Amino acid sequence: METGYTVEQLRAAATDAVRAPSLHNVQPWRFRLRDGGIEVLLDPTRRLPATDPSGWGARVAGGAALFNLRLALAVAGAPATVRLRPYPSEPDVLARLVPDLPRRPSPAEQSLYAAIPRRFSNRAPFWPDPVPADSRWRLGEAARAEHCWLELLIGVSAVNAFAEIARGAHRVLERDPAYRAEREAWVRAGDEPDGVPVTASGPQAEPHDLLPSRGFGGIPRAPGRDFEPEPLVAVLGSAGNTAVDQVVAGQALQRMLLTATDAGLSVSMLSQPIEVPSAREQLRLSLGRFGTPQMVMRIGYGQPGRPTPRRAVDEVLDLPVHLA
Ligand SMILES: Cc1cc2nc3c(=O)[nH]c(=O)nc-3n(C[C@H](O)[C@H](O)[C@H](O)COP(=O)(O)O)c2cc1C
Repeated sequence: METGYTVEQLRAAATDAVRAPSLHNVQPWRFRLRDGGIEVLLDPTRRLPATDPSGWGARVAGGAALFNLRLALAVAGAPATVRLRPYPSEPDVLARLVPDLPRRPSPAEQSLYAAIPRRFSNRAPFWPDPVPADSRWRLGEAARAEHCWLELLIGVSAVNAFAEIARGAHRVLERDPAYRAEREAWVRAGDEPDGVPVTASGPQAEPHDLLPSRGFGGIPRAPGRDFEPEPLVAVLGSAGNTAVDQVVAGQALQRMLLTATDAGLSVSMLSQPIEVPSAREQLRLSLGRFGTPQMVMRIGYGQPGRPTPRRAVDEVLDLPVHLA
């Protein structure tokens, strides 16, 4: 394909891209076609100044959307070559995708692609069944394939030590009224096209919970349905912490989430210990790793749920006027 991508290819791939996760489901992305290339941009009107002052979360979300975009194009037989942050003077342009040689998608790409519409954050308690070794291995491979690392916290003491860091970070964040106001502003009572629906918020937090939950409204907990006592906690990290590293981490996150979905696993994210710099450093030291933790996940077997809403794809496309 020498002529570049078409508007139809952009629209189809962006429809999958918007299924990516984002902080508070703000969907901080836009997509455009420029000189035959598809570009992923941050939407400056959808920042979270109190929750995400550095833009880390927006870049991770943009990276996750970029992974879906890559996958959609590959499955359509039009895989892309990707350049991250292609224009130094335009930092909001996260990536530019131009057509690579056409080829047939691999079975692995097809399975991951099929997981895109099924994936959702499951904030409810999981069953106590352990995650089997082959699934753990696949999750690690997914992170490594995208140039990141994954650390699984093994054993009660590692999980307890992490939980303490996470609860500390949660307390620090909750002290900030602007942070709380921002979260509350993105809770949705119904099926609005963005924000977190109360029905997706998981149960109300209880003082004896091991891990902090963000609190998007919280539905009352069924009696006896506590969180699993020994959750599988995974930390995803990247080599460094530049803007490019964060977009790379977003792609690795999405590859892991889709791999988990494909393996029948549920995941919820908890990023409080990533958002508080001192907690992030404590977490890094506790893992004994170089590089930077970029996301923490709880992984297990969950009850069925349903994906949360997204804005219509035409709301996130920047098209030349004659094509819009
Ligand atoms: C960078 C980032 C940080 C997130 N942090 C949290 C978190 O701390 N707690 C939480 O419950 N969900 C967190 N999420 C999940 C989002 O709230 C979720 O992706 C969004 O509401 C859309 O829902 P979905 O994942 O079901 O599609 C995070 C997602 C991203 C991309």
